[in-house]
Amino acid sequence: MNSQQSIGIFDSGIGGLTVAHAITEKLPHENIIYFGDTAHLPYGDKSAETIQRYCLSIIDFLLAQHCKVIVVACNSATASAYEAMQDYLQNRIPLIGVIDPVINECIKKFPQKNLGLIGTKRTVESKVFEKKIQALAKDIKLKALATPLLVPIIEENFHSHEKLVDEALKLYLSQASLQNIDGLILACTHYPILKSRIAAFYEHKIPLLDAGEITANALAKQLEENGLLNPQVIQGQRDFFVSDLTPAFAQMANEFFGEKIVLTVTNLTGN
Ligand code: DGL
Repeated sequence: MNSQQSIGIFDSGIGGLTVAHAITEKLPHENIIYFGDTAHLPYGDKSAETIQRYCLSIIDFLLAQHCKVIVVACNSATASAYEAMQDYLQNRIPLIGVIDPVINECIKKFPQKNLGLIGTKRTVESKVFEKKIQALAKDIKLKALATPLLVPIIEENFHSHEKLVDEALKLYLSQASLQNIDGLILACTHYPILKSRIAAFYEHKIPLLDAGEITANALAKQLEENGLLNPQVIQGQRDFFVSDLTPAFAQMANEFFGEKIVLTVTNLTGN
């Protein structure tokens, strides 16, 4: 493994771009390879076993690209397949999920607070956040709600339709289980795309936590500690792969990175 190799990043689709973008902001000289499993999204409605199968194929793909580290830029994949991926990798390269860095941040910032969480069905049903928080910070009270309509709204490119987004958010965020919270965890990497509308729902009074910058910081620390930061001074190379071409992905990738992004369609074998 050497520092010039790429950082592998993946998600079911667009969501992981929120993490990838934060990584390129924090570490502009790093080469990145992004894989969006658009042929299989949404992950959040699938079983843990199915998600594990998808994830292991993607790990194989990113290993074949000689990545030096893999970032699982998806809460549903981290919640259901992180251990399976770790076992599969056998420490060949580091694996970073989006859940632990966010939990560490919650413990630092909200040690005795009532927190809300929204995520996919898979993430919420896994109760991974509750279990980890219970083990590490008993004084944090967490109330979680699955908000499965939000990913299709984003993947169908409807996230700029304020009325539609606001209506869906109102439906979810006004539910009894999410009242009286001191902060909200956006436990799906798609949701930061709706961040300004979520903030507006709370009249900008409730802090929102998402995985982007927090994960980018955790990754930078990990690379530094392992002597794996890329020393090149030019902007890193950015390669994007998808398992199916979707207009929403193409548009969002261009918007995030402010340039025309070339997408390579890659069908992974074995899934
Ligand atoms: N972005 C993903 C997550 O963080 C997955 C959404 C989906 O495919 O359902 O959970």
